[in-house]
Amino acid sequence: MVQRIDVECKNESYPIFIGELPQKLEFEGSVLVVTNSKVAGIHLRTLLQCIYAKECFVCVLEDGEEYKNIQSVQRILETAFIHKLDRQSTMIAFGGGVVGDIVGFAAGIFMRGISFVQIPTTLLAQVDASIGGKTAINNKFGKNLIGLFHQPKAVYVNPFFLGTLSHREKSSGIAEIIKMAVMFDKDFFEWLSMQNLQGSSLLEAIMRAILIKKEVVVKDELERGVRMALNYGHTFGHVIEKETQYKQYLHGEAVSMGMIMANRLAVQLGYLSVDEEFRIQKILEKNDLPIYYKIPSMESFYQSLFLDKKNENHQIRFILPHNIGRFIPCTHLSKAEIMRTLEEFCDD
Ligand code: GLY
Repeated sequence: MVQRIDVECKNESYPIFIGELPQKLEFEGSVLVVTNSKVAGIHLRTLLQCIYAKECFVCVLEDGEEYKNIQSVQRILETAFIHKLDRQSTMIAFGGGVVGDIVGFAAGIFMRGISFVQIPTTLLAQVDASIGGKTAINNKFGKNLIGLFHQPKAVYVNPFFLGTLSHREKSSGIAEIIKMAVMFDKDFFEWLSMQNLQGSSLLEAIMRAILIKKEVVVKDELERGVRMALNYGHTFGHVIEKETQYKQYLHGEAVSMGMIMANRLAVQLGYLSVDEEFRIQKILEKNDLPIYYKIPSMESFYQSLFLDKKNENHQIRFILPHNIGRFIPCTHLSKAEIMRTLEEFCDD
């Protein structure tokens, strides 16, 4: 059975369909499917069989966070121009969070913006990245620093695609599910703590995470308030990804280590108990997520925190758990307070 959840944003609403892809995905204009080499090898034929459009073209990108850059956007745009896409055309993002973010960005700037559809194939993209219209690419200064908000026309979440994910990819998506539970829903956290996420329990976790994500996006589409809580673990995690050249860790793995750092800061500031910190660590470990990043240089790590998009007036804004199930944004911390946390991740 296919379930439908509507995301009611200010200017447009769009549906998230959870379940099998429809047998016919119909489009009025031309379609450009953008995917990566890995997904293309496994699932592209299945998708192309469903698409009914005037014309359908395909652009295959390299797989990996290190390709989430301006060159990949350039490739998509060139393919779109070569095949004479116009404002009636639609781009389809078929892949994980990287593909979704790049395609959303390309669709948002092509001819000042055309429609795009998200068909996420990873757990991380299904529960988080494909919903809410955040698009971005990385540059040498940091992660997701170039981008825009461009909501998709529809999101198709088909759990069938998760069958071919590696264990690491699955764990990476679970990190984002845990993030949502810690920030917004203590009962969900308690429930997650008791599950081995697979089969029907994974499906339930996907559904609950999507409902949380939808609520947050509807309340705060442009991330002026509550949506910032979805960045728990990301302030630190993005620096970890940048320091390791986007090659060593999957996004969810970096977020997992980032949540551990955020928790330490929250404990030091009195927002989280040591017992709660331990419980969050346990659930990350249980899902085979890394929990310790050794900071090579504290000063350089500290400076990189200043490039986060949530910052204002050169103040780093951390999103910290305030017990489990609530959050607190935290600015105005002194360098000494932040360094005290970073020190715990530095062996020297
Ligand atoms: N992935 C975080 C957000 O969409 O706000």
